[in-house]
Amino acid sequence: MLKPTTSIAMSISNKIYLIGFMASGKTTLAKKLSKHLGYSFVDTDKTIESNEENTIESIFKNLGEQYFRNLETEILHKVTNNSNKVVVSTGGGMACNQSNLDYMLANGTVVFLKLDLKSIKSRLKASKTKRPLVDKLTDEEFNETIDNLYNDRIPFYEQAHLTINALNIRSLSMNKLEQQLKII
Ligand code: S3P
Repeated sequence: MLKPTTSIAMSISNKIYLIGFMASGKTTLAKKLSKHLGYSFVDTDKTIESNEENTIESIFKNLGEQYFRNLETEILHKVTNNSNKVVVSTGGGMACNQSNLDYMLANGTVVFLKLDLKSIKSRLKASKTKRPLVDKLTDEEFNETIDNLYNDRIPFYEQAHLTINALNIRSLSMNKLEQQLKII
């Protein structure tokens, strides 16, 4: 009798999208993984800032969040609408627009860097990066905002092809991750 065959793709997609909450380590991992695989690296926030010659903070403040979200979608298509091999670090809200997420799911491999709420909060508090969604909030507002965002966003992030524990990103084995990316 023939054994049932499992379809295992042994090659890695040309596009790898890292998604997850603010401060989950997407950029750190994207840089490391891109180097390991010999792919290029794109950070959508940095690309927006350099294209607009403006900071994310100022875009939010002066042009509004919706303007930023439109730029995010535009950049997502621009940087990956080609055959280049690239690891993309996305802003925390990128995947929380279902059409952005569907585009990434159809166009490459989507990896969710999962981090518990407590670690997210403490990393955000310690971070020097300006994040308009959480800066300038009282402790109470901060907690409420993060709790709500987390609950709203998890259902999007969980649609990823692969979920990895983001707690110890720096010690994550790139060889192991490469193997996981091969069997998706
Ligand atoms: C955002 C996350 C930020 C940046 C912007 C909005 C979000 O990126 O895109 O401040 O909506 O979660 P990081 O996830 O890199 O912090």
